[in-house]
Amino acid sequence: MNDSDSHTSLPSDARVATRPLELAIVLPTYNERRNIATMVERIDRELQGIAWEVIYVDDNSPDGTSDEVRMIAQADPRVRCIQRIGRRGLASAAIEGMCSTSAPYVAVMDADHQHDPALLRGMLAALKGGDYDLAYASRFAEGASTEAWGRPDRVKVSGLANRIANKVTGVELSDPMSGFFMLPTAFLRADAHRLSGVGFKILLDILATSETPLRVKEFPLNFAARAEGESKLDQTVVFEFLVGLYDKWLGRIIPTRFALFGTVGALGVIVQFAALWVLLHVVFGERFVYGNWSESAVFNTANTLAAVVAMTFNFVLNNELTYSDKRLRGFSALLRGWAQFALTCSLGLLTNVGSAAVLKSIGFHDFVAVLVGIILGAVWNFALSSKFVWGK
Ligand code: GDD
Ligand code: MN
Repeated sequence: MNDSDSHTSLPSDARVATRPLELAIVLPTYNERRNIATMVERIDRELQGIAWEVIYVDDNSPDGTSDEVRMIAQADPRVRCIQRIGRRGLASAAIEGMCSTSAPYVAVMDADHQHDPALLRGMLAALKGGDYDLAYASRFAEGASTEAWGRPDRVKVSGLANRIANKVTGVELSDPMSGFFMLPTAFLRADAHRLSGVGFKILLDILATSETPLRVKEFPLNFAARAEGESKLDQTVVFEFLVGLYDKWLGRIIPTRFALFGTVGALGVIVQFAALWVLLHVVFGERFVYGNWSESAVFNTANTLAAVVAMTFNFVLNNELTYSDKRLRGFSALLRGWAQFALTCSLGLLTNVGSAAVLKSIGFHDFVAVLVGIILGAVWNFALSSKFVWGK
């Protein structure tokens, strides 16, 4: 009688089929249907003799990635599918996938064949050896290559970003933005509630969240070209860093997204003033006042246009930065989003002006009334737009 036979609560055929799971590989996907079967084959080939499972975390990709995964899982129960509805985001998908396994070790890697599953075996051995807390694949370590990199503009993370990463994590990393790593699952679970899922790339977040500096083993990666489909991420590396830093230090006091939204809104105020100035002095000019337009008609028209300019500016910036992980793309999606944002903002303006009026009427100082109005209006805009404009 061997060890696994002693799990007497299992039916005998399940006992034969199951060995204790050693490793889970989490693959977040968005539109990767054509990369699934080939990746499972590669993993299977590389991990002979290791009890593994593959967990695809798919954000309900329109190309039917989830269906494809389920089809393969029908024939191979080591393959699992988490299909998330109404949510987007690589970091949160990775966290959810990692938390969903019972394997003692868990890896995250890209599903598009840019990460080589041949490294998994060495990573697992390094962790099992006990000398390391985390293993990751670096595109910039000695011996790595990025020759097949589709986009030459994406070069090594800047020296500054690297230095910040070192400061935050206490670990020397040649590629802190890597999306390919492995760690003990229990360790991940202990910290998972403090991972943010915004800003920092997930590896950096894990390293920065850990209270003690982790012992990290670097594996040189041959960063391959994407097999099928196209990239969904942009490389606003410096921005990601700033957001990540903010999130770690102040994110619990004022949530990161709201802070971004508020900053964009404040910039919008400047834009409105600038646009108003241009409209009054350059576009409309004095000829309108001396023509048949009254001064107040000129002012009101110009200010309305300036507000629309500022609102559009805010929409674009929020779409690019605040909601970069849920960015609306394509003409019709943008147009619909813009209209929804405009509606949200006009309701926000009512909240703003209305609450200020109420506060003033019950005796608050003008300044306090206006400030509270602005804050309430912003909260309202944020709540509504995060649900209705960038909610899906
Ligand atoms: N579930 C889910 N949700 N998965 C996503 C999402 C999303 O919103 N966005 C992207 N993914 C999946 C992709 O399907 C792919 O499997 C993986 O995440 C990486 O996405 P790519 O779109 O291929 O990213 P990349 O190749 O441009 O970026 C690579 O380099 C970055 C650093 O420069 C990745 O390795 C990143 O992880 C890495 O941070
Ligand atoms: Mn990729």
